[in-house]
Amino acid sequence: MSMEWGVRMRVTVFGSSHGPEVGARISGIPKGTPVDPDRIQADLDRRRPVGRRLATRRQEEDRLVIDSGIVEGRSDGAEIRAHVANTDVQRAPYDRLRRTPRPGHADYPARIRYGEEADLSGGGIFSGRMTVGLVIAGGIARQMLAARGIEVAGFTQAIGGIEANVPESLPMPEISARRDLHEVGTADPTVAGAMADAIAAARREGDSLGGVVEVRATGLPVGLGEPFFDSIESVVAHAAFSVPAVKGIEFGAGFRAARMRGSEHNDPFYWLGDRVATRTNHAGGILGGLATGMPLTVRCAVKPTSSIARPQATVDLDHHTDTTLTVTGRHDPCIVPRAVVVLESVTAMALADLGLRGGFLP
Ligand SMILES: Cc1cc2nc3c(=O)[nH]c(=O)nc-3n(C[C@H](O)[C@H](O)[C@H](O)COP(=O)(O)O)c2cc1C
Repeated sequence: MSMEWGVRMRVTVFGSSHGPEVGARISGIPKGTPVDPDRIQADLDRRRPVGRRLATRRQEEDRLVIDSGIVEGRSDGAEIRAHVANTDVQRAPYDRLRRTPRPGHADYPARIRYGEEADLSGGGIFSGRMTVGLVIAGGIARQMLAARGIEVAGFTQAIGGIEANVPESLPMPEISARRDLHEVGTADPTVAGAMADAIAAARREGDSLGGVVEVRATGLPVGLGEPFFDSIESVVAHAAFSVPAVKGIEFGAGFRAARMRGSEHNDPFYWLGDRVATRTNHAGGILGGLATGMPLTVRCAVKPTSSIARPQATVDLDHHTDTTLTVTGRHDPCIVPRAVVVLESVTAMALADLGLRGGFLP
């Protein structure tokens, strides 16, 4: 079972939804790299659902514990291990799911692949809880990037078809500040209320909603990335698709590019002082897999939560019959707001790994 990612910055996530802990082991962080645990904790707090009327009612403290690899605020060059404890575990609602898999969740293929013995309670290793490890690793990556002037910020771009309008010119600190004002995590205050109402309505109806998370990264050195198989798109997408419920990704104009003409899609170059910039950024900051120096823009489609409180058709795997399942337990009616910090984190991991590979970091 491979739970490992990265070439120079290697990340292994461990634990499971209802096991004692979840976390990450991270290797390849150069000795002496400053790592402030409080900044990682702040990211973990953004991932937590507590206090959100629109999220799961599972209450976890998610206190960061650094087990090894950081000494007096700096990497000691050895593997970093860090975790948070799982404390609010309720196994009972999941017992039946071994036999009657949830439509849309990983229960069915996971049981066939890993057998009865696998601990799939709460989704096991397929739970959104595994993203704690990504936020820890991403938190370290973000600090390495910030030291080189690279900033990463995300926001909720759409929920249930309600779209945010966040100009590309909006400064990164402003994106973060606006996003953190509202529990849906959008940087467009004019749609935040409608998004929240839509999630609350879906929950009342025993249903769920999907949406889009946008992540931007600024300050990328021109040329960062590897051509061909390890283009920025490839490495970011590889990390982003490890996030449960992410089903699509696009960069810059993305799928809109297919409907544009070259004259429209090409981003004209010009001198901005002593650096080259482009008038538009349909490329999303990437040409030939390498950074152009313009903002990286990534959008990820997040599906509607599969665990919904309505009767659904499923199968009984033990008795070979068709049956009906009503999922109980505690679930997010919309994953999107909590996925924002997770997708920022995996983007940061990808950029840090490419930065180390290309000699742009440390
Ligand atoms: C932060 C986060 C929280 C999640 N919470 C839930 C949840 O409460 N209920 C659920 O059914 N799925 C939840 N998911 C998604 C499932 O883990 C995911 O849909 C499932 O593992 C199947 O994988 P796939 O959707 O990538 O195919 C969450 C995902 C993330 C990133």
